[in-house]
Formats: sequence, C-alpha cells, structure tokens
Amino acid sequence: MDPPQASTRTTKSSSINHMFEIKKLTGFVGAEMRGPNLAKGIDEAMAHALREALAVHHMIVLRGQQLSLDGQKSLNSVFGPAMRLPYVKPLDDDPEVIAVLKEAHEVNTGVFGGEWHSDFSFLENPPAGSVLNAIEVPEVGGDTVWSSQAAAYASLPRNLKAIVDHHKAVHVGAPYGVKHAPPKEDQANGSIQMSRGDPNADREILHPSVITDPASGAKALFLNPIYTTRFDGISDNESRPILDAIYKHATRPDFSCRLRWQPGDVAVWNNRTTLHYATNDYDGTRRLLYRTTYSAAPPA
Ligand code: SIN
Repeated sequence: MDPPQASTRTTKSSSINHMFEIKKLTGFVGAEMRGPNLAKGIDEAMAHALREALAVHHMIVLRGQQLSLDGQKSLNSVFGPAMRLPYVKPLDDDPEVIAVLKEAHEVNTGVFGGEWHSDFSFLENPPAGSVLNAIEVPEVGGDTVWSSQAAAYASLPRNLKAIVDHHKAVHVGAPYGVKHAPPKEDQANGSIQMSRGDPNADREILHPSVITDPASGAKALFLNPIYTTRFDGISDNESRPILDAIYKHATRPDFSCRLRWQPGDVAVWNNRTTLHYATNDYDGTRRLLYRTTYSAAPPA
C-alpha cells in the first residue's frame, strides 16, 4: 500500500484560481482543496489540478463554493461526460441532475444512499465518479462517509483475496438492489422518486471484483453491498458469507473519511475506488444536495 502523502501541498495554478492547498483528511481517502473559487471558471490548469487531486485522494471537497447548477455541471465535465441514470427521477428541467432531498417532515424513514454502496454498479458502465453540491444541510448530522476500496483491497486477508482475484461479481439493480438490500422502510425516502421495471437496472451484469483505477494505477475492490448478489461461478448462498466478510473489512473505520457538510460545499469522488454512505441522523431538518455523475471507460 502506498504510504500516506504529505498532508499539505501548495501549487500555483492559473490567474483565475491563484494558489491552492491540498489537505489530506485521513490516511487513505479524502482531501480538502483550499483556495479555488470554481464559480469564477475552471481553466485547464485548474482542471488538471482537480483531476490530479482526485486521482491521489479518491474524494476531494472544496468548501464554500456556492456553485449554481451550471457551475456544478462545469465541474462535473472536468472529470468526464455527464451521465443520465435509470431508476431515480432527475430534476424536471435537467435530466443530468438528481436532487438528493429529505424533507423535515420525513421522519423514521430511510435516506437515499443510506447503506454502503457505490453508485449504480448494476449498469454495464457505472458512473466513474459523482459530484455532490450541498445546498441546504443540517447544522449537525447528514454527514457522508467514504471508504477507500484501494486500502481495503491492499489489506484484504489472503483467503478473500484469492476469491476476488479469480471471480468476477454479479450486480443487479432490481428490485432496488438485491434480496439482501435493506428493508423497504430503510430504503430511499419519499422525496426521491424511484422507478421500477427499468430494463437497464433489472438484469445481471458481471464486473471484475477487483479493478485497476486508470487515474492512479491503484487496484481496488469493486463490490457493492446493495447490488452485488454473488460471485460468478459461486452460488448465492455460498457467496453471501464471503461477501459479508469482505464488506466488514471494506467498511472499516480505518479506511474511511467522514465529511461534515456546510452549505456551499462541493465534493467529488471516484465511484470505482470508494464506497460511500449517507448518514441518517437529522430527522426534522431539511437536507438538499444536487448530484451529478460522469462516465469513463467501463471498470476493468
Ligand atoms: C449518494 O449516495 O449519492 C448520496 C450521498 C449523500 O446524500 O450523502
């Protein structure tokens, strides 16, 4: 496993964005990029710096950006072409944007993303990454947590490594994940409209269980606690305890980073080398973030 990077780095970028500093948030995943004002525009030097920061840290956050939807889409396009996703109803006037919303009156219910997962791994070409733009967030609670699947793979016990190295995994989106998905009451809350019976989600897709991240060269586990049903060539029943053991390891606090949002913050993450989890501890408070996703070559 690569040793942790130096915690602070200052780099001169273009005249638009001036100096910026990168501060690691944990040993394995997440960094805060301080200095850029993305609303002023993203020139090629800044785009390069953003891609480089994401390649190294797998999740980056830029505080207080207050990005408009157009600004968020410009940031998204730095990393790849925008995706339109099945299953979740996007904004009426913008099919590339999902409102991740929980209203104050929605209590004792699940939240969107409230289980460890990567986004839409049941697609043939799942999002390479996602951008989340905090519009309205609770004063306390509603944090998002990421877990480095590169760190998880690097320290995976040998018996489990032998399985993931030699078996692809089956991912399926229907019915909202798999039979091991959380019970209905713990699934997405009412503000997010999920469609059913989508042919892009309701079928089995095979992905490698271990992928190589083209940006960093890191090998990472690519298994999804919501959408992975089994290993190729191993039955559901035999796969289940193996998957559970892997997830227990893959979501260890040692590999994770917890982000406490402030309005205006924007985070970008690598959807192939991390899992993430939306905490659900803010009943009675409204939380709204806009999410966009971008694509790249399929996971390999
Ligand atoms: C998601 O899973 O994309 C949503 C994360 C969050 O709301 O914190």
